[in-house]
Amino acid sequence: MVAYERFAAFYDVVMDDPGPRAVRVDAAIERYGPGATSLLELGCGTGSILARLTTGAALTGLDRSPEMLAIAAAKVPRARLVEADMRSFDLGERFDVITCVFDSINHLLDVASWASLVGCVHRHLTDGGLFVVDVNSVGELRRLGNEPPWVYDFDGGTAIIDVTFAEGDGGLGLTDWDIRIFERVTPTRFELHHERIGELALPLARVRELVADRFEVLEEVDEDGLPATDDSVKAYYALRRRD
Ligand SMILES: C[S@@+](CC[C@H](N)C(=O)[O-])C[C@H]1O[C@@H](n2cnc3c(N)ncnc32)[C@H](O)[C@@H]1O
Repeated sequence: MVAYERFAAFYDVVMDDPGPRAVRVDAAIERYGPGATSLLELGCGTGSILARLTTGAALTGLDRSPEMLAIAAAKVPRARLVEADMRSFDLGERFDVITCVFDSINHLLDVASWASLVGCVHRHLTDGGLFVVDVNSVGELRRLGNEPPWVYDFDGGTAIIDVTFAEGDGGLGLTDWDIRIFERVTPTRFELHHERIGELALPLARVRELVADRFEVLEEVDEDGLPATDDSVKAYYALRRRD
């Protein structure tokens, strides 16, 4: 089973408002790649970011979940969508901007996979192209692991998300997201959709090491625009491709 097979149908109602995520991507493009004519989003999911971007660039979304892509296809007809793995894709073309946001990269569960993604991004960016990526920090995954399960009632059911945290070698943060959606199918009957999704966080020093040879770090900031740390909720990167 590919992750998100069961969660996909509920993803948009259960997850945070995607508006601010799209605004951040737009702002990075405005600042560092205003003339971009092509953009690729890795881990585009249901297309919520692609649907909101104001850039005039031609849009491509890549995801390995057919269920997420089916929703994206209906939501963003102007985007070209590709079912592929962001660790090993080869699209035979280059883009001015590549994005990978809302902790999609954290879904890669070993450091070698992060390195592989970084290599693929470098190969698919035009000279001087922009890579906009965010990561959940180790501190954030630890905090989420210490919190009680998150319960969210929505029109049509209830979601319960329980995050378990474990510290790996070298300060890596590993989490297991246990997602249970109780879909109300009649006023008195619920159907359970259960899925587990893993996330890995790297100390930010390791992230910088991974990109150092191939990218110049233009920004590495937290949600308030201050320098990101391993205790920030997220680190937001704007990276410029080195030749
Ligand atoms: C948290 S969602 C983010 C979706 C979207 N970027 C957003 O902001 O709403 C993570 C997405 O990454 C995708 N994903 C995870 N691992 C992947 C992989 N190895 N290759 C391609 N997509 C992957 C999942 O299918 C999922 O759609």
